[in-house]
Amino acid sequence: MLAGVPMNWMRKWAGAFPPFVREAQGAQFFDVDGNRYVDFCLGDTGAMTGHSPSATVKAVEAQSRRGITFMLPVEDAIFVAEDLQKRFGLPFWQFALTATDANRFSIRLARKITRRPKILVFNWCYHGTVDEAFITLQPDGTARARRGNVGPPVDPAVTTKVVEFNDVAALEKALSPGDVACVLAEPAMTNVGIVHPEPGFHAALREITGKTGTLLILDETHTICAGPGGSTGADGLQPDVLVFGKAIGGGVPGAAYGFSEEVAKRISADDNLEDCDVGGIGGTLAGNALSLAAMRATLSSVLTKDAFNRMMPMAELWTAGVQQTITEFHLPWHVTRLGCRAEYLFSAKAPKNGTEAHDAMDFELERFLHLYCMNRGILLTPFHNMALMSPSTGRDDVELHSRVFREAVTELRG
Ligand SMILES: Cc1ncc(COP(=O)(O)O)c(C=O)c1O
Repeated sequence: MLAGVPMNWMRKWAGAFPPFVREAQGAQFFDVDGNRYVDFCLGDTGAMTGHSPSATVKAVEAQSRRGITFMLPVEDAIFVAEDLQKRFGLPFWQFALTATDANRFSIRLARKITRRPKILVFNWCYHGTVDEAFITLQPDGTARARRGNVGPPVDPAVTTKVVEFNDVAALEKALSPGDVACVLAEPAMTNVGIVHPEPGFHAALREITGKTGTLLILDETHTICAGPGGSTGADGLQPDVLVFGKAIGGGVPGAAYGFSEEVAKRISADDNLEDCDVGGIGGTLAGNALSLAAMRATLSSVLTKDAFNRMMPMAELWTAGVQQTITEFHLPWHVTRLGCRAEYLFSAKAPKNGTEAHDAMDFELERFLHLYCMNRGILLTPFHNMALMSPSTGRDDVELHSRVFREAVTELRG
């Protein structure tokens, strides 16, 4: 394998090589050398349900004996679409295999029905491997391809406008020419540390997108940590389109994207049956029986309200443990939380946008802390300092992290 790993990012883990996993269950896994880890990474949200939740495993086992993929609908799809409607309030749904694809398809549909060429994203966002989103603002205010953007098909500055999160004036200015099909946003940024929306930001985002005829796509793939309905459910948001991937099938590949009644009508009005299999939206395995069985079981029995009621207090405890050390050692760091996701950042105050969050990152320090934790049986999310709680994460797991984090800081100070 290239660099000894099956997927490019796996070489980025702290240390000379990543642990190879032998088996996992709930909030823990064992590597091939028999070391146990408490897993706060949880497949970067893909396993937010805990590893191999029994309801999902049972459904997948049963479905895999009855057929895996047909390119035909199964009844589970109806159940899943209805469940998603209850969670997020949107009445129409489609399925994909990854959140990246769900975002890409949503963007394409937005372009098609608005007949506008551009999209808008927030600086230092991440929405999967979506070409249009690999763009950052330069200090002089111009937008350029993000550092490390591999082989872009076109310069993303051609396709995309980018403004800072929480900057209502810049958003208004960028949308006012009426050439932006959609804003693609996480309700709170989660991929450059956590950046919370300021009070009134979502109301302004909704109002300005509405006023300018721009569709609002909320990507809840990570912010599902805010509750069973993500931030949309928790904060009463009203997107035109919503994307939810990763954890939706308990780790089995699957994603969903939903539309408001109005968007669904516009899509249908513009539908072309003859070309719909080659129009850039699809995927032979999208909506397959196995992923829908996994989604049905995960939504009905795993990512439930009860589960969130167990996960939230664990994230509060994790946050309090980190805060205690920050306070004790007077560190210029802060820790924050979004539902069952928590994160510390190397800046004293909470960032208000992607630039502030990105400027607070420290690659070397981050790797030291990650490796320190891994050597003591704790896995954090690899690319920043994030911890996610699953329904199986327990007090002991969290207290282990609080202890190890304090020890790491003690050594750093020493
Ligand atoms: C907010 C968000 N959306 C979409 C994605 C893409 O998910 P996937 O890699 O499963 O396509 C990610 C991945 O990290 C994400 O964080």
